[in-house]
Amino acid sequence: MSSARYRKPYPASPTPTLRSSQPDTQTRDESYQDEVGEHPFLGVLRNLVLILVINFLLSYYITSTFFWNYDFRLLRFRYLLFVLLKTLYKTKVPELTKSVLLNVLPESSTLFTLTFFTFEFPRIFSDDTLALYNGSNTALPIYVGLNGSVYDVTENRRTYGPGGPYNHFAGRDAARAFVTGCFTTDLTHDLRGLDPVAAESDISGWKAFFEKSARYWYVGDVIHEPITKPPQLGHLCSSRAGRTGP
Ligand code: HEM
Ligand SMILES: *[C@@H]1O[C@H](CO)[C@@H](O)[C@H](O)[C@H]1NC(C)=O
Ligand SMILES: *[C@@H]1O[C@H](CO)[C@@H](O)[C@H](O)[C@H]1NC(C)=O
Repeated sequence: MSSARYRKPYPASPTPTLRSSQPDTQTRDESYQDEVGEHPFLGVLRNLVLILVINFLLSYYITSTFFWNYDFRLLRFRYLLFVLLKTLYKTKVPELTKSVLLNVLPESSTLFTLTFFTFEFPRIFSDDTLALYNGSNTALPIYVGLNGSVYDVTENRRTYGPGGPYNHFAGRDAARAFVTGCFTTDLTHDLRGLDPVAAESDISGWKAFFEKSARYWYVGDVIHEPITKPPQLGHLCSSRAGRTGP
């Protein structure tokens, strides 16, 4: 750690033995030279890095994570990729690369071109296209619709994937079930018959949950077919889960 490089030329001590025979003056002299030679900012920086390293190691020792169990969306590779694609999409770079690459790439790379070039933000789904993202196809992400908004929940396949406790929310907009907790009868976005104030408050609560989560993010909107069925009754179903709000 001592910055020997910045030390001024020192009167040569003939032998190491002689140096150690006068330790007091030597040490004081050297540390003085250190402070003169090193920019004070470097010392602060060094301590900061040291504190950070100790912090990460301590966090890893106690929680097995480097951020005290704190979770960042940006630490997730899929989200990083999403942000990258979103930025490219905004700057219209894909339009340029598209025309070039489509002439260069072989036919066999259609999957790559599809995933890369079909990116749009916000992406617009129909009920049918949203249904593809229920987790059954492991090559595709898992999306949850909620009153018209669509969220990527792929990071929690255990909960939303096939066999998961909340798989019924995947690949569809079941806003009504988010309000009523009727996970078999109310898997629809049709909110008619519900108390509008309670529905609005429950839905905005769940939307906030998905938007603030470190694992989920908003990807687009689902445009529903007009509802032609008669309104469902607002009664409580037998399999109703008792909790409301996130
Ligand atoms: C209106 C009623 C309810 C709604 C809309 C609802 C919705 C949800 C949602 C969306 C999740 C996933 C959260 C996440 O992504 O991390 C969840 C998780 C969970 N809920 Fe509910 N819930 C309701 C009622 C209940 C009730 C009554 C119980 C208790 C019996 C319950 C137990 C759980 C448990 C244990 C989890 C964690 C599951 C896991 O991560 O594997 N929920 N709930
Ligand atoms: C998911 O959707 C596909 C196609 O829409 C369907 O064949 C499959 O049964 C669905 N899986 C689940 C678990 O709902
Ligand atoms: C739910 O969707 C309806 C119709 O698009 C809209 O008027 C309402 O504000 C939405 N509620 C929330 C909480 O997003």
